[in-house]
Amino acid sequence: MRLSSAFLAAALPLTCAQTSSPKRGLVFVPDPRWPEDAAIWTSQPGSPLTWYYNYEREPSAEFAGLPQEDFEFVPMLWGAPEDEDDASFRESVEAQIDAGRDIRHVLGFNEPDGPQGQFGGSAVDPATAARVWIRNIEPLAERGVKLGLPACTGGWGGIPWLQQFLGNCSELVSSGGEERNCTYDFVNIHWYGNFEGLASHMGSYSAAFPNITQWITEYNFDNQDLPTTQEFFNMSSEYFDRMDSVGRYSYFGSFRSEASNVGPNAVMLSNDGQLTDIGSWYLGGSATGIDPQSSAASARLSLVSFSVAMVFGIVLRECLY
Ligand SMILES: *[C@@H]1O[C@H](CO)[C@@H](O)[C@H](O)[C@H]1NC(C)=O
Ligand SMILES: *[C@@H]1O[C@H](CO)[C@@H](O)[C@H](O)[C@H]1NC(C)=O
Ligand SMILES: *[C@@H]1O[C@H](CO)[C@@H](O)[C@H](O)[C@H]1NC(C)=O
Ligand SMILES: *[C@@H]1O[C@H](CO)[C@@H](O)[C@H](O)[C@H]1NC(C)=O
Repeated sequence: MRLSSAFLAAALPLTCAQTSSPKRGLVFVPDPRWPEDAAIWTSQPGSPLTWYYNYEREPSAEFAGLPQEDFEFVPMLWGAPEDEDDASFRESVEAQIDAGRDIRHVLGFNEPDGPQGQFGGSAVDPATAARVWIRNIEPLAERGVKLGLPACTGGWGGIPWLQQFLGNCSELVSSGGEERNCTYDFVNIHWYGNFEGLASHMGSYSAAFPNITQWITEYNFDNQDLPTTQEFFNMSSEYFDRMDSVGRYSYFGSFRSEASNVGPNAVMLSNDGQLTDIGSWYLGGSATGIDPQSSAASARLSLVSFSVAMVFGIVLRECLY
């Protein structure tokens, strides 16, 4: 069905209300080769994105002009600083608050149970992480900031890592005083795999951390064909929107296919920087039909071969007659 543009304009607010998800955010993974790609995340009319993180403590320059109330920046302490006395994460967040930025949440370490390298783990042991947390994150609760536990990998070792981390944290905050636990407000979950695995992994977190809000801050069914990737995307978005236990979620894939470390189809941008179907759906739009692995170069190439085939076909036909 085709709708007239007047009808479409009238229907837009309704569409926005339907696609709007206050939970949905952006894991911003900019690529220095294509700085022009950043604009796409904040320029789609009716986009449901309300927040972002960039694995860093300070907002991205690309989004500096956007008010915090429209596109909430959530700082992250990615890994342990070399010097354990380093409190620069806390100082930075406090300075941002003092300067008037409404920092409402912070995120703990990124995949501390994973090795450093291609997949971006921060490789921090639980005891070290607890000391860094107490110096840099725990005190932010007094400023009204909600604290997200470290985001472990989707591997079996994640929950045990968190339990050791909390055990160390309790010992440290209680040392020489009354018994206490470290404070946290939500857990962060990463998942790469199929939908059943995702739901089961979230169930393990619910069992280990009963009645704690879950943020799914990286997820994808990596290295699959396009229909499987899209089916997973649809099922997981619908599930997160429906589950009261899910506070927020952010799909890992804000980059081009050729830059992907989660497979060529998992991405929201084609090799040209155009929104793929998933990219457009995530931003509240409709399918673009753009193949994640396509690029202008390959499109031009196929146009050339098409023309060549046409000419060849005509020549051939001429010869036959
Ligand atoms: C503290 O963390 C270490 C690993 O870093 C672990 O061996 C130990 O069991 C933890 N302590 C508690 C009380 O959980
Ligand atoms: C600390 O957390 C543990 C495990 O969740 C719990 O059993 C204990 O009661 C808590 N202690 C305090 C003082 O809140
Ligand atoms: C925690 O429990 C309360 C009361 O049962 C419930 O209303 C709330 O949704 C729960 N929160 C989470 C995050 O599960
Ligand atoms: C995913 O959802 C979109 C609508 O949001 C729909 O057009 C598409 O067919 C769905 N794809 C799969 C594989 O479920």
